[in-house]
Amino acid sequence: DKADIGVTGLATMGRNLARNFAHHGHVVAVHNRTQNRTTAFMDQHRDEGAFLAAGSVEEFVASLRRPRKAIIMVKAGAPTDAVIEELAAHMEPGDMIIDGGNALYADTRRREAALRERGLHFVGAGISGGEEGALNGPSIMPGGAPEAYETLGPLLEDVAAKVDGTPCCVHVGPDGAGHFVKMVHNGIEYSDMQLIVESYDLLRQALGLSPQELADVFREWNRGDLESYLIEITTEVLGHTDAATGRPFVDVVVDQAEQKGTGRWTVQSALDLGVPVTGIAEAVFARALSGHPDQRTAARSLAGPQEKGAADGADLVEDVRRALYASKIVAYAQGFDQIAAASAEYGWSIDPGAMATIWRGGCIIRARFLDRIREAYEARPTLPTLLVDPTFAAALADAQVSWRRVVATAATIGVPTPGFSSALAYYDALRRDRLPAALLQGLRDYFGAHTYRRVDREGAFHTDWSGDRVERPA
Ligand code: 6PG
Repeated sequence: DKADIGVTGLATMGRNLARNFAHHGHVVAVHNRTQNRTTAFMDQHRDEGAFLAAGSVEEFVASLRRPRKAIIMVKAGAPTDAVIEELAAHMEPGDMIIDGGNALYADTRRREAALRERGLHFVGAGISGGEEGALNGPSIMPGGAPEAYETLGPLLEDVAAKVDGTPCCVHVGPDGAGHFVKMVHNGIEYSDMQLIVESYDLLRQALGLSPQELADVFREWNRGDLESYLIEITTEVLGHTDAATGRPFVDVVVDQAEQKGTGRWTVQSALDLGVPVTGIAEAVFARALSGHPDQRTAARSLAGPQEKGAADGADLVEDVRRALYASKIVAYAQGFDQIAAASAEYGWSIDPGAMATIWRGGCIIRARFLDRIREAYEARPTLPTLLVDPTFAAALADAQVSWRRVVATAATIGVPTPGFSSALAYYDALRRDRLPAALLQGLRDYFGAHTYRRVDREGAFHTDWSGDRVERPA
C-alpha cells in the first residue's frame, strides 16, 4: 500500500502535521534525517492512523503514491535545499515537493523554477498556527503551479482549519506567492504583538495596574472588535504566576525580544517595493532596540518627563482599546498594500479577500476582524487602501480622538508607543491634502538638480538656484 502524502522532518511542526493528515484518514509516510526520531514518532503515534515509516529518502519517495507529494518540514535555508535535492533525485515528472517551512519567497521562486525545469512541481506553502495549529488545523498558504494545487489542494484543505465550513487554505498564486503571503502574515503578527505590548506597557505605567488586572482588561477587550487569538493568549500570559518565585510571570522574563527573521524579511521586501509598512517596521525595530542591553543601561541616566502617570483610569483604558483597534487597521492596510505590490511586481494575481478569508482561522493572527477585511474586499475588490472601506473609515473616525489622546499621553509621560504613534502618523499623512514632500523635492532640486514636477504644468523642471533662479523644463 502506498502513502497519500509524506512528511520529512519530524520536529514538532512536521510531527503534528503528519498526525493531522493521519487523523483525517490519509496514509502518511514519515521520514527524518536521523532515524531515531522516526522510530520515536512511530512508538508514540502509530495507533493514531496509518503511517509508513521510511528509513531512507529513497524508501520514503518509493512509499508515496503518484503523483508523489512530499512535504518538507525542515529549517529554512541550506537544509531545505539539501532535502529538496535528495528528494528530487528519486522523483519522477509530475511529482511534487511541498516546502511547509518559513522559507524566503525569493528562495521559493528559485527552487520552483529549478524543479520545473526537471518536470517536478515545487509548492512553497506557508503554514501558520504553531504546534497546535499543525495538529488540529492550521491556516495554509500554498503557492506554485495551479496544476499542482488541483491534486494537492484537497488534501491540504482537508487538514486546514475551517471557519463557517470554509477551509483556511487556498491557492495563493504561482511560485513564491504562498511564502510571500506567509511572510507578510508574520510581519502583521509582529505588529499585532507590538500594539498589544504597547497597550500593556502604557496602562501599567500610567495607571499602575498589575499584570493580573491587565489580564482582566484584555479579557474584556477580547469580547469586542479586538477579539483574536493574540489578545486571548495575552490574557493567559499576563495572568500567569511564575511557579518558582510566585511573581507575575511577565516580571521574571528577560525583556529582550528575539526573532527568527520573517518580520525583518517583510520590512526588507517592503523597502524594495516602496511600500510603507511602518507598523511592521516599528515592531521589528522595537524588538531590535530591546536587544541592546548595553545601550539601554547607559541610557538609563537620560532625562525623562516630570509627569509619570495619567489622571483618569477608566477613560484611558477605553482610549487605549480604541487606539489599538485603529492602529491595527493601519497595520493590516499596510500589509495588504505590500501583498498587492508584490502581486503586481511578480504577476501573482493574489486575491486579497481570499487571504483575509484563510487568515480567519488556524493562524496566529486569526481574529474576528479578518472577516471585516474579507467583506471590505468583497464589496470593493479594487479598494485603494483598507482605510477607506466604509466600515474601517467609520471605525477610524470613531477612534481618532482616543487615538490622539493615547499618543499624546504616552509622549507626555515618556512611555514609548512606536506602533500607536507611527500608525497615527501614517493615517494623518495619507489623508493630507498637501504633503511637505513638495519642500523636499525643492531641496533635492537645490542641492542636486534632481528636478521636480509642478502642480500646474506637465513634465520635469529644474530651477537655476545658483543663477537666475528661474524654473525651466529639465
Ligand atoms: C506562525 C508563526 C510561526 C513562527 C513565529 C515566531 O504563523 O505559526 O508565525 O511561523 O513561530 O512567527 O517568529 P519569531 O521567532 O520571528 O517571533
